[in-house]
Amino acid sequence: MKDFLIAPSILSADFARLGEDVEKVLAAGADVVHFDVMDNHYVPNLTFGPMICKALRDYGITAPIDVHLMVSPVDDLIEQFADAGASMISFHPEASQHVDRSLQLIIDKGCQPGLVFNPATSLSHLDYVMDKLHHILLMSVNPGFGGQSFIPNTLDKLREVKQRIEESGRNIRLEVDGGVKVDNIAAIADAGADMFVAGSAIFNQPDYATVIQQMRNELAS
Ligand code: DX5
Ligand code: ZN
Repeated sequence: MKDFLIAPSILSADFARLGEDVEKVLAAGADVVHFDVMDNHYVPNLTFGPMICKALRDYGITAPIDVHLMVSPVDDLIEQFADAGASMISFHPEASQHVDRSLQLIIDKGCQPGLVFNPATSLSHLDYVMDKLHHILLMSVNPGFGGQSFIPNTLDKLREVKQRIEESGRNIRLEVDGGVKVDNIAAIADAGADMFVAGSAIFNQPDYATVIQQMRNELAS
């Protein structure tokens, strides 16, 4: 049984005091810092680049940084985020010209590679790359914005991916991103997820420790 990881998305953090806010959420019990990188091309929003990753490393953040690239093309930003201190890097297969080569680039740069699946993206992209994957990220909203509602049929997709991971015999993390809340995280875990991205559910709360503990209580129930 994998340990559950809670990964707040800084998309909903206070960007005027980002270093302090990230420090606060980690002190409140978060495990990983999730970066939602958007280019206003692959998705209809523009967020931030590798300099924010470097700035947080220079500020003293040592926790794993999980970079979710909602960009196209991906390879240049893979290199730049790896050089800036990323730990995990994932991208959408539709956004890369050569998925295997992009995954290998993440590995060659010393980071942990993942593939991201939008709600309507077929799992067939997993067919020839399971041996390269550290994590699989399922989007439970359509990418581009925080604060959206969880798409319920993601639970069936999670079960399908969980089964493929088990059949592969590989120790691959199953991550979910979008609309994760205290009141649905247990069902998401029951469907097979072991890593949870939450932006608004955490950063919109006055006390991060309380909401993270509530999530952990739900996961333990
Ligand atoms: C969508 C983003 C969001 C974000 C989480 O592109 O990837 O899913 O991480 O947002 P919340 O937790 O506010 O739904
Ligand atoms: Zn994300």
